[in-house]
Amino acid sequence: MLSWMFLFGKGFSMYVRSFLKWAGSKYNCLDDIFKRVPREGDLLVEPFVGSATVALNTNYKHYVLCDLNPDVINLYKFVVADVEAVIIALRDYFTPENNVKSRYYELKEQYNNSTDDWERAILFVYLNRHCYNGLVRYSGKGFNTSFGSYAKPKLPEDEMRFFAKKFKRADFRCHSFEDLKVRFRKDTTVLSDPPYIPASPTASFSSYTPVGFGQVHHRKLNSMSRKWSKRKARVFVCNHDVELVDKLYSGFVHKDAFEVSRTISCKIDEREKADEVLLSYQEIDV
Ligand SMILES: C[S@@+](CC[C@H](N)C(=O)[O-])C[C@H]1O[C@@H](n2cnc3c(N)ncnc32)[C@H](O)[C@@H]1O
Repeated sequence: MLSWMFLFGKGFSMYVRSFLKWAGSKYNCLDDIFKRVPREGDLLVEPFVGSATVALNTNYKHYVLCDLNPDVINLYKFVVADVEAVIIALRDYFTPENNVKSRYYELKEQYNNSTDDWERAILFVYLNRHCYNGLVRYSGKGFNTSFGSYAKPKLPEDEMRFFAKKFKRADFRCHSFEDLKVRFRKDTTVLSDPPYIPASPTASFSSYTPVGFGQVHHRKLNSMSRKWSKRKARVFVCNHDVELVDKLYSGFVHKDAFEVSRTISCKIDEREKADEVLLSYQEIDV
């Protein structure tokens, strides 16, 4: 049976956590997001689903959840198909012997050299929970985050079971947002949470995938968001509250700004409050 204690994490929270740690997770902004983004409806589309933290805390009839990172989508498909098999396989990796630096680097190399979807899915969870800050970061040689040195990384069994149950019928897709083709339903929300525009030239973290995400992508997302809103979907885009947002996302109609704890920096002393925005592409009641 599911233990509901995991819902509360450290301290009280109304929200469910994903089983993946994720740089840029929206967990700390859910209150602000749900002031605008409906938590219910016919269809929720997330072109940049990441850890699925937003979708996990909604109650839509249908979900289309996409990400360009094939390991994330591959893993989600295995979890939904047979979560107990995934958990059993993971138990062999969440051991004290595997929680040492040398073993972490061996398994990271095994992951980077593997072409087997199942092996990559299992190792992805191991790396996500044992690497520094849960940063899923790639370089030319593959996954390149350093060892996290945590006392006892937790195998997030309950979170995985919740995820599997919640998204049993979700449509998981691995492609870039530019290739999104979906038949909207009557009551559709599209929420895009792309890699951030860097808050400053030195604070950049946008290497979730080897391809990267630049201004050309942000402009393209702006034009696609306008098109989606013309098709009567409610369309929202998240990003940093930087001047460039107004330039790159010229099509939005309303902007909400809010402050949030940011933990995406590699350096622990660089964790800080950052301003975020939620752009709406349709008229809203203020
Ligand atoms: C800010 S994160 C999303 C975080 C998510 N909202 C959460 O709460 O966990 C951005 C995501 O976009 C994905 N991504 C990067 N480039 C992409 C692209 N061109 N198309 C679709 N997804 C992309 C990354 O793999 C990453 O998971």
